[in-house]
Amino acid sequence: MRTHLVAGNWKMHTHPNEGLDLVHEILGGLGEAKAEVWVFPPATHLSLLAEPLAQSPVKLGAQNAAAAAQGAYTGELSVSMLKACGAQGLLVGHSERRQLFGETGKVLNQKLERCLEQALTPFLCVGETLAERESGNHMEVVRNQIEEAIEGFELHALDALVIAYEPVWAIGTGQTASPFQAQEMHAFIRRVWAKKFGESSAEHLRILYGGSVKPENAAELFGQTDIDGGLIGGASLKAADFLRIVHAKPQV
Ligand code: 13P
Repeated sequence: MRTHLVAGNWKMHTHPNEGLDLVHEILGGLGEAKAEVWVFPPATHLSLLAEPLAQSPVKLGAQNAAAAAQGAYTGELSVSMLKACGAQGLLVGHSERRQLFGETGKVLNQKLERCLEQALTPFLCVGETLAERESGNHMEVVRNQIEEAIEGFELHALDALVIAYEPVWAIGTGQTASPFQAQEMHAFIRRVWAKKFGESSAEHLRILYGGSVKPENAAELFGQTDIDGGLIGGASLKAADFLRIVHAKPQV
C-alpha cells in the first residue's frame, strides 16, 4: 500500500511571518488527516517553521538546492545547510527550475546525489510542455527526464524517492490535466520504473500529480489508480483550500 501524500509548493510567495501563520492554520485544521502532508516554503522560512512542524505530522522541505556540496558558489544554498535548517525533503527539477534557470538532467542528477548523501527525501519533478504533448512526444520526454535524473543510482538509494508529474501546460494555468491524461502518464511512469527496477519497487513508488489541483478537482484526480497524491502550487497558499485537498477522499 502506498501512503497518500499531499504537498504544498509555496514557490516565491509569503514572508516568514505569513508562512508561520499559514503553518498554524494548516496545523489547526489538520485533524486526523490520512495523507502524509508536506510543505515546501521558501528557504528563508525553514528555521522558523521547523519548530512548530517538529511537534506535528507535517513534514518540511526545500524547493531547491545547489548541485555542489559546498564551495565558492555565491548565493547558493547546500543541501546540508537546508537540512540543518529543518528540511527533510527537496524538490528536484521543478519545471520552473528547468525552464527559467536552465537546469539540465546532468545538474539534476548531481542535486539528487547531494540529496541522497544527506538522506533527504527527493521529490523528482517531471513533465512535458504543451508543444511536446502536441507533437506526441510527452511520454518520451518524461521517460528521459527520469532516466537522466536517476542515472547511476542503485535502487536502494532511491527507496524514498517520490516522483511528481507536473505537465508544464497545467502549472498555474487553471488548465488541469484530465484524470485520464494524468492516469495515463502515471501508469507509464510506473511501467518505466518497473522495467528498470522491477514490479515490486514500482508498486511502492509514489507518483504525485501537480498542475492546477484545486479542492474541486482533487478527489477525482486522487481516485485514479496510479495517482498517489498531489503537489499543489497556488491552492497551497490558502490554508482552507490546501486542507480541503488534504482531506479530499479519492473518488474511485
Ligand atoms: P499550481 O497548482 O499553481 O498549478 O502549481 C503546481 C506546481 O507547480 C506545484 O509544484
